[in-house]
Amino acid sequence: MGKEAEPHAEFPFAPRAYGGPPDEYAQRRSSCPLEPIVLPSGDEVLLATTYEDIRDVHADTRFTRNLRYPGAPRLLAGRDIPDDPHALVNMDPPEHTRLRRIVQSAFTPRRAEGWRPRIQELADGLLDAVIAGSPPVDLLDSYALPLPIHIICRLLGVPEEDSPRFRAWSDVFLSTSTATADERARAGAEFAAYTDALIADRRRNPGADLLDELINAHDAEDRLSEGELARMVRGLIIAGHETTGHVVGRGVLTLLRHPDQLAELRQNPQLLHGAVEEILRTEVPGHGGLLRVATEDLSLPSGGTVPKGQAVLAPVVAANYDPQQFAAPDEFDIHRSAESRHLAFGHGPHFCLGANLARVELEVAIGSLVERLPGLALAVAPEGLKWTTGSRICSLVELPVTWE
Ligand code: HEM
Repeated sequence: MGKEAEPHAEFPFAPRAYGGPPDEYAQRRSSCPLEPIVLPSGDEVLLATTYEDIRDVHADTRFTRNLRYPGAPRLLAGRDIPDDPHALVNMDPPEHTRLRRIVQSAFTPRRAEGWRPRIQELADGLLDAVIAGSPPVDLLDSYALPLPIHIICRLLGVPEEDSPRFRAWSDVFLSTSTATADERARAGAEFAAYTDALIADRRRNPGADLLDELINAHDAEDRLSEGELARMVRGLIIAGHETTGHVVGRGVLTLLRHPDQLAELRQNPQLLHGAVEEILRTEVPGHGGLLRVATEDLSLPSGGTVPKGQAVLAPVVAANYDPQQFAAPDEFDIHRSAESRHLAFGHGPHFCLGANLARVELEVAIGSLVERLPGLALAVAPEGLKWTTGSRICSLVELPVTWE
């Protein structure tokens, strides 16, 4: 690796080319697998870098997601995601279990499969429009992002025409240094006002969507507080579109950078499942994973200890590149059977609620593109692609493509 890892280095680290995991993850994994880093807020936390440590931190409920006490660590200074007591991601059992039960039936493998025809129809329509246009086309804006936005809007029962506003608000939430604390607070207040109005309107004009089920869980069954209801709607809108769209965009780029594997996939659609799992292993944008605090003295498999009250950041991206789990982790290989082990969707109680849906979306999005645009190519040199900076997620700004 050459360079020594710095124990108190400033996080986030610069990604490698094409949004790859920072070199620091590999350096620290071999020399200081569980040592402090300094977050943009100025707080110091331990950074876990081995697969086993990261999986344990996500699974062990002795790590709390309740970061709402004086002096609790923050990724960013000012009000941020962990301040919200009503968000699923910020809860511990038993509240977390109660809330998760209310929504999880909408995201089972069977329900996700039930969405496949609609996702396919939508992908076909978007691709018809792409093909009818003239290249170059930004595939991120015309295909990868609209697909999951449309599906989460349909699933919840939220007007799709409002999606440019969700995207703008998400961009602000997901930034680390480009948006100020005031800008984040303003975006949060606007989004809250929007969802409050949406819920009020749906109470007057009920439908049969997940939004109605959630309203019913509050109004008729008293299982969900008003704050939890509004926060759940916002959480699902953000979580439901941003990551999936960027994984599709990054996945398409990775396939284009590996033309032999793309050709193989085109010839043999049976490889799609493995290709999607490998894309999930390598293309989660950003580090993946929120801060957790130890509620008692704990030790982790790498041999490191975490004293009570100590915060740990356990990025799933670092786990997915641990050579102890994935031979030659920097090599993209659609034949690798990574599904049962990669941590792209996290692990344990906060395991991604939308994982089944995201997998169907990815299979349809990538499979349809590969089938319908055999001459797909980048319209710019790969080195010329623009990537987001200062964001919690590391994604393409655009993906200009052309085809024959
Ligand atoms: C490829 C796409 C996606 C990836 C890589 C992804 C990744 C993740 C990860 C890593 C976590 C756990 C974070 C942690 O515990 O620190 C998570 C949680 C979550 N995800 Fe996803 N996600 C994706 C798509 C979706 C979709 C489509 C939805 C909703 C429709 C969704 C909803 C959620 C929710 C609600 C949580 C919080 C669960 C909880 O706290 O119990 N995600 N996701």
